[in-house]
Formats: sequence, C-alpha cells, structure tokens
Amino acid sequence: MNRREFIRLSSILGAGALVPALPHKLMAMLIAENDFTKADFGPDFKWGVAAAAYQIEGAWDEDGKSPSIWDQFTQHKKRKIKTRENGNIACDFYHRYEADIALVKEMNFNVFRLSAAWTRLLPEGTGKVNQKGIDFYHRVIDSCLKMGIEPWITLYHWDLPQVLEKKGGWANRDVVSWFSEYAELVTKTYGDKVKNWMVLNEPMAFTALGYLLGMHAPGRIAPRKFLKAAHHTTMAQAEGGRIIRKNVPNAYIGTTFSCSHVEPKSEKEGQKRAAHRMNSLLNRLYVEPLLGMGYPTDDFPFLKKIEKHIQPGDMEKVTFDFDFIGLQNYTRVVTKQSALIPFVGANQVKPEKRGVVPDNLTEMGWEVYPEGIYKVIKQFAAYKNIPPIIITENGAAFSDTVESDGKIHDTKRIDFFKKYLGQVLRAKREGVDLRGYFVWTLMDNFEWAEGYKPRFGLVHVDFKTQERRIKDSGLWFKAFLK
Ligand code: FCB
Repeated sequence: MNRREFIRLSSILGAGALVPALPHKLMAMLIAENDFTKADFGPDFKWGVAAAAYQIEGAWDEDGKSPSIWDQFTQHKKRKIKTRENGNIACDFYHRYEADIALVKEMNFNVFRLSAAWTRLLPEGTGKVNQKGIDFYHRVIDSCLKMGIEPWITLYHWDLPQVLEKKGGWANRDVVSWFSEYAELVTKTYGDKVKNWMVLNEPMAFTALGYLLGMHAPGRIAPRKFLKAAHHTTMAQAEGGRIIRKNVPNAYIGTTFSCSHVEPKSEKEGQKRAAHRMNSLLNRLYVEPLLGMGYPTDDFPFLKKIEKHIQPGDMEKVTFDFDFIGLQNYTRVVTKQSALIPFVGANQVKPEKRGVVPDNLTEMGWEVYPEGIYKVIKQFAAYKNIPPIIITENGAAFSDTVESDGKIHDTKRIDFFKKYLGQVLRAKREGVDLRGYFVWTLMDNFEWAEGYKPRFGLVHVDFKTQERRIKDSGLWFKAFLK
C-alpha cells in the first residue's frame, strides 16, 4: 500500500459505485474560470508557498544533524518507498536556500511556509543544542527577511528524531515534554525574527500513516499505538501553542489539519454511518478536542478506546486558543461501508470506480474536485469557536515535462489552481474568515512514500543537476499576484 491510498481513508480503500457528480461539477465551472483577481481576496490576504524540511533540505547527516524517523525509514525500510529513493539530497535546499527563497520572491508570494528539522537543532532529541543547526535557520530566516518574504515556521512536519522513536516516539507520553523542550528552543531562538508559527503539520496524516497503517515513518501497524500517539499529539498541539504564546511577543499562532470532504456513496443508513466514521477520523479527531469538544467518539467504537489513554486534567490541557487554523486540502473521499476494513468499517470508493476519468486524476491518483475545498472550509467554519482559517496547503502533482523550448507548460496545474481558488473565494464571499492561501509547493521535492515521481512544485527541479525552472503555473501566480 502506498501514500495515494491514504487519502482514500486515508487508506482504507476499495471499489464501488457511481456518484452523482454533475451538479457539483457544473457549480465548480460556474464559479471558477478566472472571474476573480488578487484584489478580490482583500489587501491583507496572505499568499504563500509551503515546503517541509525533510522534503527539500537534503544534507541529512551534515553539520551535526542526527537521523530522523524519515532517514531511518527511507534507508532501512526502502521497500516502503515506491521508488526506493530517500531525502538524503532532496532539493539540496540546505545549500541553495538563498536562490530558492529568491524564487519565492520572483513569483510574487509574500509568505514562505517552511519547517524546522528537530534533528538539526537537538540531535539527541533533547538536551544538547547543535549550534550549526541553529545557525542554518538563522541564515534561512535572514534571507527571507532581507527579500521581504515572511517566514512562517511549522515546528513539526513529520521528522521526529530517531533517538526518540527508539523510546516509543509519539506513542510514549513523554513525547509531550520532549516536544515542549524542542518548541521552547525554537521559539526562544527565532521568536524575535519570526512572528508567524504553526505547531504541527497534519497530525492525522503522521499518526495514522505512521502508527496505524505503517505507510510512513516509523512504519508501525499498531492500532493501540495509534490511539496513544493521537492523544499525545493532541496534547503537544495545544502545548506548542502555549509555548509560542509565552516566548514570542505579538506572535500569530496556528496549527494545520489535513481535511477532505467525505461523502457516502449512497444515502442508505449504513453508508451514511460509514461516512460518519470516516469523517470523524479524517476531519474531526484533532480539531474537536482543541476546541474543547472532546474526541469525536460518537458512534465510533474504535475511537472510543482513546479514552483509556486520557489522564485526569488532560482534556483541559488539549485546548488552546489559536489565532488561526491551517486547512490542507487536495481531494474528496467517497466512502462505502466495509466490514472487511478493521476499526473504521469504511472504505474509499476509488475515483476510477465511480466514473472519474483519468484526466481528472492527479499523479497521486487523487480526484481533482474543486468544490471539496469549499465544502471542508464550510465544515470547519461551522464550529462555534473556530478561529480564522488559512489554507496552508493546496496543490496538485502532474507529470510535467521540460519541453523543447526549455519550459514546463503545466496547463493542468494552472487550471487546478484557478478552480480551487475560485472555490476558496466562494467560501470567503459567503462570510468565512479566510486569511490566506499557500500553495503546496515551492518546488518539486521528495514526496514521502512516493519518492520524487509526483511533482507538486511551481518550480521544476532536475534532480540530477539541481537546476530549477519556474513552470508556467509559477508564472501564472507571478502575474496573478503582481
Ligand atoms: C501533505 C503534506 C505535504 C505534502 C502534500 C502533498 O499531506 O503535508 O508534506 O506531502 O501532502
């Protein structure tokens, strides 16, 4: 099983029937096609590109960095990576950051969302600080500031120190204090320069893929560990927010969630219940405790078992008043009931099995479904005390080629962005407090268990020469954001 399969339960998948999609498609078409400009999003709207340390930095063992779970996973569980590749070199951002940040500027974005690698800063997970690692992010941050780009830092984008994984990783309750120590260090070190922060990247993805499905590092298939990891992650999420608030004056603080609009393949009761469980897992698990609503265990026996890992006082500690939440959306999930799938009892109906044509699928096998982003925005915005929303990731992988004119004419990606942005604007016009939109991603990079094959970048990377070329989609943004 690979990562494509994840968004299909994020992994829990199967076959199925046709879904009536026409009205949605018509709607999307009516809204989309460039009937908007940058100005429609408002003067303070943030436009960014996002990236993550492990996917771009390379220099995996340089200047005192220790191995993360992703170094371990890609080097010792090679078969889990479709192409047997790893992030040892990746985009070599560690050495080329300055030119890469210049590309962010060149395309007229004002935000660069990036993550810090815990293993560069605290190679032993806790304790001794690695000055060379500290210096690296100072250089990156200074370059951004010099070029007029706001650095937005994610504390954790999936690369736990391997030394901590050996002690149980996210399934060990001590991770909350390990993470707190790391968060203290990062925010005290860079807090005078960096004002915009995100605590976690997609907790659902890294706990489920890492501890339940074994598709991502650390590669465990252990439902009990997943539930423990989920609770500890929820605790770290709020604790991280508190630490940033304490250490960074005037900070703007958020955390991010993966989300996909979930719908049942039919309106039958059993199907609706299956979709309900899938939705609880994919979209509700991490946000509801944060908002003081507890875990979404209603009608979901497997999830109810998380309660075993809750200690007195925990459910107060998992709440935090974030300044914004980051939503990350790519596609939708259509579910069917399935007794064969343990724990969730639901399965995804693959897009191919419900009539989605290949032309409407990305390289990840994900359906292009613009209205899905509108629907998840509305779903999250409906929570009573939800803070403002930023789309902290959205994008698509297509099989780009450098053509004879030396350019990358990625018209499908441009079309994707126009349609998705149209739907973001639709939600904003209906009154959702949306403050920004960040593209996944600056440049083609290491796409986790898929290797380098899916290219998500606005900038094409030749991984043999490290040559960068702005794709037509990057040029489209450049003109759009002018
Ligand atoms: C998100 C991840 C990001 C990237 C995109 C395609 O789930 O946060 O690192 O892999 O998917």
